[in-house]
Amino acid sequence: MSSLAKNYKRRKISFYKGKGSFLYSSKGVRYLDFVQGIAVNSLGHSNPNLNKALLKQSKKVWHVSNAFEIPEGERLAKRLTKNTFADYVLFQNSGAEATEAAVKAARKFFYLRNKPFKNRILCIKNSFHGRTLAAIYASGSKKMTEGFGPKVPGFDHFEFGDHEALKKAITKKTAAIMVEPVLGEGGIKVIPNWCLKALRKICNQKKILLIIDEVQSGIGRSGKFFAFEYSGIKPDIVPIAKGIGGGFPIGAVLMNKKVAKGMTPGSHGSTFGGNPLAMEIGNAVLDQILKKYFLKNVQKNSKYFLDKLKIIKKDYPHVIKEVRGLGLLIGIQLYDKQSLFIKKLQENKLLTIRAAENVVRILPPLNVKKSEIDMSLKIIKKVCNEF
Ligand SMILES: Cc1ncc(COP(=O)(O)O)c(C=O)c1O
Repeated sequence: MSSLAKNYKRRKISFYKGKGSFLYSSKGVRYLDFVQGIAVNSLGHSNPNLNKALLKQSKKVWHVSNAFEIPEGERLAKRLTKNTFADYVLFQNSGAEATEAAVKAARKFFYLRNKPFKNRILCIKNSFHGRTLAAIYASGSKKMTEGFGPKVPGFDHFEFGDHEALKKAITKKTAAIMVEPVLGEGGIKVIPNWCLKALRKICNQKKILLIIDEVQSGIGRSGKFFAFEYSGIKPDIVPIAKGIGGGFPIGAVLMNKKVAKGMTPGSHGSTFGGNPLAMEIGNAVLDQILKKYFLKNVQKNSKYFLDKLKIIKKDYPHVIKEVRGLGLLIGIQLYDKQSLFIKKLQENKLLTIRAAENVVRILPPLNVKKSEIDMSLKIIKKVCNEF
């Protein structure tokens, strides 16, 4: 009998080893892992460069308090700002913490402008920003909040794609709009570029902030460093996590200068956030992601994968409703029986994970090989054939 709380519906399988795109089960079976810890292991399992960075730093110093300077974090923050819209970075340990810190930064921004009443955050209904109390109410999902009241106030919602409703929902009390550029848990729904541009314009007109949650879509997953870059806009605040640690827990909030002004000494903190061990692993992840052709290769593999999946959709129009995604954040929307489809993929040694709206989510490591994509396509086709 397991002593673990029952908050996860775990599959009856465990792994003793991982290497690149593959996981090896305790029964000795090799699986193609296109879950990768849900978009966490950006460079695959047991990446030699990350192993080296972890070992090297573990022999120096793991953790010191943020009461002291941390050069490894200084370096990571400098690289994140040099390569993005941001001027400042605040390190956390997870995505939910990062989205909460983003909300805090937005509220403080208006507080310092003598507008403390401007504190409400406008989000997409049934989006996903994490599982802490504020984050579940930000997500606007009935299922996630059930039993966890009283409601955390300060969040309003609009339906995905409904710009008129969005405009109507903005009041004098609105501080920011917060959206995922690709709704990951919500079913790999990509916000089109024209829409992100419109969001930026609305925020400018209403003099409110734009928060883009890149926890799942960020750090190369979309084929650009950030998914919003395709639209050419600049947000004010961007929470990140998942891919930046390559499997090690790291979260962060990236901010422009005007927002970061509110983050004065004592305004926010984290015991573990930004520790030297995490920071060196983050630096080792960036060493790879920022290589000259790395992101171009993600884009190339994405196109190849999506094109091939669309051909499979054509061959099995009664099984697959839609193929969608950005970069290597890919969703196959089925008409029905999503769990059975995922189970059958697993029986054929391909690991995938669900998302809302009957979507099978496919998240290979960003350095996936073409031959591994081909291997997965063969399995997906076989399972479609059995449906
Ligand atoms: C867009 C988005 N934001 C926030 C989170 C929460 O991250 P974490 O589970 O690390 O708290 C997730 C996790 O899936 C996410 O996809």
